[in-house]
Amino acid sequence: MRRAKLSVIGAGNVGATCAHWAAAKELADIVLLDIPDRVGVAKGKALDLFCCAPMEEFDANVIGTSDYKDTADSDVVIVTAGLPRKPGMSRDDLIQTNVKIVREVAENVAKHSPNAVMIIVSNPLDAMVYTAWKASGFPTNKILGQAGCLDVARFRAFLAMELGCSVEDIQALLLGGHGDDMVPLPRFTSVHGIPIDMLLSKEKIDACVQRAKVGGGEIVQLMGTSAYYAPASGSVQMAEAIIKDKKRILPCAAYCEKEFGVATEKGKGYFVGVPCVLGKNGMEKIVEINLNADEKKLMDESISHVKDLVGTVRKIFPELA
Ligand code: APR
Repeated sequence: MRRAKLSVIGAGNVGATCAHWAAAKELADIVLLDIPDRVGVAKGKALDLFCCAPMEEFDANVIGTSDYKDTADSDVVIVTAGLPRKPGMSRDDLIQTNVKIVREVAENVAKHSPNAVMIIVSNPLDAMVYTAWKASGFPTNKILGQAGCLDVARFRAFLAMELGCSVEDIQALLLGGHGDDMVPLPRFTSVHGIPIDMLLSKEKIDACVQRAKVGGGEIVQLMGTSAYYAPASGSVQMAEAIIKDKKRILPCAAYCEKEFGVATEKGKGYFVGVPCVLGKNGMEKIVEINLNADEKKLMDESISHVKDLVGTVRKIFPELA
């Protein structure tokens, strides 16, 4: 049986950590690609990781390269190429540089792995997913953005810290854009089935929501660059659901039209954070839920920020409109 193939574009902090989590799960053969100037880093990290195989007991090849031919026929491609945030920068500050990078990457992925599912991680996420979609010409089910898995994981982690219970028992759902734009849904948050508001006060829940929203910024402040363990873990969680055709419901940036009232016209949709069924075809279904008035207001604000970001991309790069 052919082993699945996972390519990770960008061998920096997030990319290398994606390769690490994926190898540890024995998910696929892994190709780590970076620009020619950094091919030594890609090759070195790949070799270092492969040398863990005898100890960690995974059978998966890991190679580093700067040649897209080595990524040919990947099942899943995780795109982490681009600049990370520095202290004082918002995700949106990265737009100019990262659009150019993600556009070039997406064109290459489409050429060499036309049947892959692409998972975008580069920021500002909602604009980069749009860029990758336009540049690749991929069908909308084959393009996803990783943000929700990370944001939900942060929320669950902070709730578990507050409650002193296992993270495994916390179920949560968030919608909307990444970070500051997320739409928290405490109504859909529970601890082993017990609604969260039976266990924590509104103030404490709100504090966990707020910390999850700015969790990325908190880490940038602490270590001077953006987070990578959890963003990589979220990306690999999505890749695993696709490679193993698990039909997991995970929050992802996915193309929506009528779903959640994103667009009234066909073909005028946007990629927005929503719960999706992930399987071998990528995004197989969006799970729509009824929002109350407060939640809908937050979701509409989040969608409107996504539209602004995409509007900026279209203005600076009219060829992507
Ligand atoms: N093709 C391939 N790789 C590229 C390209 C390109 N055109 N341009 C840059 N890269 C590589 C860089 O050489 C670098 O190795 O992308 C890598 C980015 O790695 P880091 O600088 O360590 O950044 P990282 O922390 O991994 O974040 C990458 O993910 O979470 C987001 O906001 C984050 O947009 C950022 C991205």
